[in-house]
Formats: sequence, C-alpha cells, structure tokens
Amino acid sequence: MSDKFSRRQFAGLAGLSALGLSAPAAAAESAPRPDGASFPTGFLWGTATSSYQIEGAVNEDGRGRSIWDTFSHTPGKIEDGSNGDRANDHYHRYKEDVGLIKDLGAKAYRFSIAWPRLFPDGTGAPNPKGLDFYDRLLDELLVNGIEPYATLYHWDLPQALQDRVGGWRSSDTSKAFADYAAYVAARLTDRVKNIFTMNEVGRFLPFGYALGIDAPGLTLPPAEVNQARHHVALAHGLAVQAIRANGRAGTRVGPAENITTCVPAINTPENIRATEVATREFNSGFLGVLLEGKYTDGFLAYAGADAPKFTAEELKIISQPNDFVGLNIYAPQTYIVASDQKPGWKPLPMPGSFPHMSSEWLRIAPEVIYWAPRIAAKIWNIKSIYISENGTSGEDKVQPDGQIYDLDRIMYLRNYLAQLQRATAEGVPVHGYFLWSLMDNFEWIFGYEKRFGLYRVDFETQARVPKLSASFYRDVIARNAIGV
Ligand code: BG6
Repeated sequence: MSDKFSRRQFAGLAGLSALGLSAPAAAAESAPRPDGASFPTGFLWGTATSSYQIEGAVNEDGRGRSIWDTFSHTPGKIEDGSNGDRANDHYHRYKEDVGLIKDLGAKAYRFSIAWPRLFPDGTGAPNPKGLDFYDRLLDELLVNGIEPYATLYHWDLPQALQDRVGGWRSSDTSKAFADYAAYVAARLTDRVKNIFTMNEVGRFLPFGYALGIDAPGLTLPPAEVNQARHHVALAHGLAVQAIRANGRAGTRVGPAENITTCVPAINTPENIRATEVATREFNSGFLGVLLEGKYTDGFLAYAGADAPKFTAEELKIISQPNDFVGLNIYAPQTYIVASDQKPGWKPLPMPGSFPHMSSEWLRIAPEVIYWAPRIAAKIWNIKSIYISENGTSGEDKVQPDGQIYDLDRIMYLRNYLAQLQRATAEGVPVHGYFLWSLMDNFEWIFGYEKRFGLYRVDFETQARVPKLSASFYRDVIARNAIGV
C-alpha cells in the first residue's frame, strides 16, 4: 500500500468519524455493494438451538428425566464437569431470547422440543404443562414475525425409555417416537408448519451407542449399532406418517442430518463423479435408506454379518417422501479422488496440519457447504434443502470495552456463506440457512467451554451480549447478500 493511499484512506475514515459513524456502520448503509453476491429472493435466514442445550428448568412443571441429565451428571463425562440443569435458563427467559432473534432480523428459528417435557415417562399420558411452554414460545415467535421450525429429537431421549427398552436398541422406541410426533402434530401444527424429525443420527448413534462419548454412553458391537440406527430410521418414517395423519394439511417434514461430507480433492469431472458415489455409500445407513428406500449393496457388503435386520415393509415406512432435507454442515469428513481400483473412489487421509477453528474437529473448508448440498440434491433428487446448522466455536474474549470482536467467526461465516451463495446461484435448491447458534449454550461433552453463539452468554448472570458476528449476520440478512 502506498503512503498516498494509506493517507487518503485515513482521511476518509476520519471524515466518517466526524459524521458520528464508524467505518463498518457507514459501509453497511451503502447497499447494494459492488461485491455483494445475492441469495435468491425469499431465502430464509434463521438461527438454531436445542432444548437440552438452552432450556434449563430440568425439574420444572413435570418434565421427566432425559438420558442427557443422567449422562451429564455422571462424573468424568463432561469436560468442565457441568450439566444442563440451568443452561441458558431459556425456559424462563424465552421472551428475551426471541427478542435476540428479532434484533438480528432473522425470519426463522429452529428449536427442539424436549420429549421428556411432553411425555415424562416416554409414553403414556402427556404432561400438559410441558406443552404449555412450547405454546408460549410459539406465540411469542409468531407475534414477532418469526417462523418456527421445530425439531422433535435433538438427543434428549426420556430416560424411562432407555431404562425400559434400551432406547434405540428397541423398535418400541421407534413406536413411542411416532406417538410423541402424533401428539405434537395434533397440538402444535396450527402454528408450526415445519418439523424436523431427527437431529444428526450420524453423531448421536455412533457417539452414544458405539464410542460411549455421548449419552447413553454405550459401546455396543457393530451389529447392534447398525440395528439401533435402523430403529432410528424407522422412527423417522413412522413419525412422518404420524405427522401427516395428525397434523394440519400442509405441514412439512424432513430430517436434519449431519451428512457425511465428501469433497472432491481437485475439481475434475472424474473426481466429482467419484465424490458423488462415495457420498451415497457413506450415507447409506441413514439419509440413503430414507431417500432411496434401501441400503446400498456397498453398505450391506461392508456391514456383512453386522448388517441390520429389516423387512420390506419397514423400508417402505422409512422412505416416506420428505418435504425437505435439512443438512447440518460444518467440516469436510473426507476429500475424495477417483481411482481405477474398486470401488472407483478413494478417501484421502486428512493432514494433521489441516487448519481448524477453536474446536479441533471443525476443519475450515468453506467449499464443503457448496459440495454437500449440490451432491445430495443430485444423487437423491432432492427438491428442497435447508442448511439446518452451520457455525463455529470461537475464543470470544470480552475486551476491556465490554465487546466481543469475534473476527474468526466472521471470517468463517463470510467464506462459508460465499460458497453457499455459489451453490444457490448455480440452482442447487437450498432454501434457507439456520446459523448454529443463536447464543452460547451447553455444548454437550464440552460443557460451557465451547462457545458457538452470535450472542455471548455469561452463565453466572445470564446476560446476553451480541458479538460482532451478530452485526455481521444482521447485515447479511438485511441485504440477502454476502460481501466477499
Ligand atoms: C452439532 C449439533 O453437532 O453441532 C449441535 O447438532 C452442537 O447440537 C453443534 O451443539 C456443535 O457441536 P459440539 O460437539 O462442538 O458441541
């Protein structure tokens, strides 16, 4: 940069401050900006949370115990020794939190319903006071012009079902889930028009049933893990049927899945084709069987004697048509190249030096949010996709002036959203985006140590403070465009 230029730039900035404007605020007012790449008209901007991560009030109004209450209270399971007993106290502060969404200008909010609030025992008599909370929340959202997107299962299974039938090890849990879905559909679809069934089977199943990292902390052999995943897929299908039978006409339903993300290592036609085939194989155990009505030959051959047992009737139930597919997209699972060896594609080892955000698992690869929906739409002929989660943790230090300048989160979002815009511009049918997360919350095994929010939460005082990324996201929403 020449001296002359930097002096000119300085003069410009000084001029702005004389007008009482900071440079970023002034820039935000000059829309449309030449570098602004627009999203399609009507693109839905939202934020996301989940019940156990924010609600607290675990013993109030007849809520039953969930497997995450049990797990988080088991010594050694959560890194900072915390639990979700109080979390963000959202159960009592939901009005303030809806105000935070409104301040962003977001038009949609993805939250989850706590199954054990509605059915403390997993099945049987519903708890009316549990439903009352979601009645209040929905009314508050609608009064503020925010469209609710409800998730039925974001991991807080009623402990009673775990104790009685072994949770997802039994298809009794699939049936109980359908009854719960029917009840929600009958009582809430006058206001909730969009329902996600399951959140991230690709995480809670392996982490909870194979690796023992998440609730319920089991380490089952592969055959039982595959069977449990099949029961979750069955639960999804039964719930879709139950929602259609009990909900208002026009209620839309689909999964919210952390698709195993495959990215072509180098963008050639051969590698793209190989990546499509790999994506289908890696996702056969859940998204594939939902969308194709069968497990792929590759999946069944790989599982061998450990393959799930199923009937043709179950496959039909599992593959009920969905109205949309939600994809939670954070990091690339694997980069792929074409290979002349069987099966024609090869996953490459991930270098240890691959850059990541403050969460080690969160590798930075903005192109993943371009490729994953593009490939999913192609291989399964999906007509409507939502990015049901995307976001990042960050250090989020409070500076002496009380502000949080989370430039790393802004960098991440700017680059990911630019790639998402690229997908929509090419006609990939992505219709909305839910940023994870509205506010810092109980991040599962990391407790309160990892912060993903647009708002910082002080878990002592429960004060919510917008980070700089909240201003960034507000600007994106206002312009329906991303400056790169
Ligand atoms: C997703 C989940 O896996 O990513 C969220 O659906 C979760 O519930 C988020 O909070 C961040 O994950 P983690 O493991 O870093 O807490």
